[in-house]
Amino acid sequence: MRIGVLTGGGDCPGLNAVIRAVVKTAAHQYHDEVIGIRDGFSGLINNKMHPLDLTRASGLISRGGTILGSSNRDNPFKYAEYIGGNMREMDVSGRVIENIEKNKLDCVIVIGGDGTQSIAHQFAQKGVNVIGIPKTIDNDLGATEVTFGYDTAITTVMEAIDKIQTTAESHHRIMVVEVMGRDAGWIGVSAGIAGGAHIILIPEIPFNMENIAQKIYERKGRGKHFTVIVVSEGARAAGGDRVIKRLVEGSFEKVRLGGIGEFVASELERITHVEARTTVLGHVQRGGSPSAFDRILATRYGSAAVMFAHDGKFDHMVALRTPEIVAVPLSEALHKMKNVEPDGSHVQTARRIGISFGDETASD
Ligand code: F6P
Repeated sequence: MRIGVLTGGGDCPGLNAVIRAVVKTAAHQYHDEVIGIRDGFSGLINNKMHPLDLTRASGLISRGGTILGSSNRDNPFKYAEYIGGNMREMDVSGRVIENIEKNKLDCVIVIGGDGTQSIAHQFAQKGVNVIGIPKTIDNDLGATEVTFGYDTAITTVMEAIDKIQTTAESHHRIMVVEVMGRDAGWIGVSAGIAGGAHIILIPEIPFNMENIAQKIYERKGRGKHFTVIVVSEGARAAGGDRVIKRLVEGSFEKVRLGGIGEFVASELERITHVEARTTVLGHVQRGGSPSAFDRILATRYGSAAVMFAHDGKFDHMVALRTPEIVAVPLSEALHKMKNVEPDGSHVQTARRIGISFGDETASD
C-alpha cells in the first residue's frame, strides 16, 4: 500500500511517536510506502507531500510537536481563499481527491481531534479510504478512554504547580494557575490532584467566589496562610459565562478561552485582602518530550492504524478500550465529548481529601 499520513489541529506530545510507528509498522510488517502530508489538510489541498522512510522516522519517539507540521484551519470543504483582498469560503475537496489520486495513496491516516476527524469522515463519505487517530491534550474525546498527549500535559502542569507551591508558601499568597482543556476539566482536576492544589475550578462545576474565599479563611484558621488554586480555562462562576480571549476566524473551533485565572485572582484579592498572583501555563502544556505512557499509547495507535488499513477498516478511528486498541466507526466517534463527571471518581477523591471545587462551603 501507499499510505498517506497527516497531523491536523493543535499539536501535542506523541504525534511524532505515532508517525514513527506508522512508518515502522508499514515497513517492517507490510513493505508499504508511507507519504508524509505537510500541514494537515493544507498539504492535501496544495499537494505538499514527501516520502517518509525508516531513516526519517528514526529518533522521533522522544520528540515533541510534529515533523509534518499541523494546521487547525484549512478545512477543504470550507477553504478560505482571498481574492482581491476579499475572503471567500470555497469547497476544494475535489482538489484533495485529485491529489490523493495523483499521489496514488491507497489510504490516508488522519491524526487529529474532533474537527480534523469530522473532515476525515466527510472524505470517507466521498469514497476516500481514511483511518483516524485521536489526539488532544484535553482528553475530551468520548470514543477513547485516553488520548495521547494528556499524560505529558498533566505532568507538565503538575511540575509547574510544585514550583508555584513554594512561592505561595514563602509569600503567604493565593497563587492561581490557569490551565488548558477547553470545555473539559480533565487537565485541571488531574494535575490539580497530582500537584496538591487546595482548590480546583473546572467547567463542569460552576463556582462561587464566596465559597472559594471560605476555603481560604478555613486554611488560614489552620495556620496555612497560602492557597494554590488550579483553574481550567473553561471554568465559570455560577450564573456567569466562560471568559473568551479571542475568536480565530477560519479555525475548526473559533473560540479561544483564557482570562478566567486573572479574574479569579483579582476577585479573591478584593474579597480576602490576601495578595494573589496568576500564572497562565498556556502552550507549555502542549510541548516537550512525551511521557512513557504517551509514547506507548501513540505507538499502539500508529501501529494499529496500519493494521486496520490492511484489514480494510476505513472510515474508522482507533481507540483505547483497555486492554485492546479497537476500531470504532468515525460516525459514532465524532462529537462524543467526554467531560469530568461532577460526581465521578476524580471529583469524589479530591473532595474526600479536602480539595474544594468552589461550589460548597468549606467544612473541614
Ligand atoms: O485543544 C487543545 C488546546 O490546547 C486547548 O486546550 C486550548 O484551548 C486550545 O487548544 C488552544 O488553541 P490554539 O493553540 O489555537 O490557541
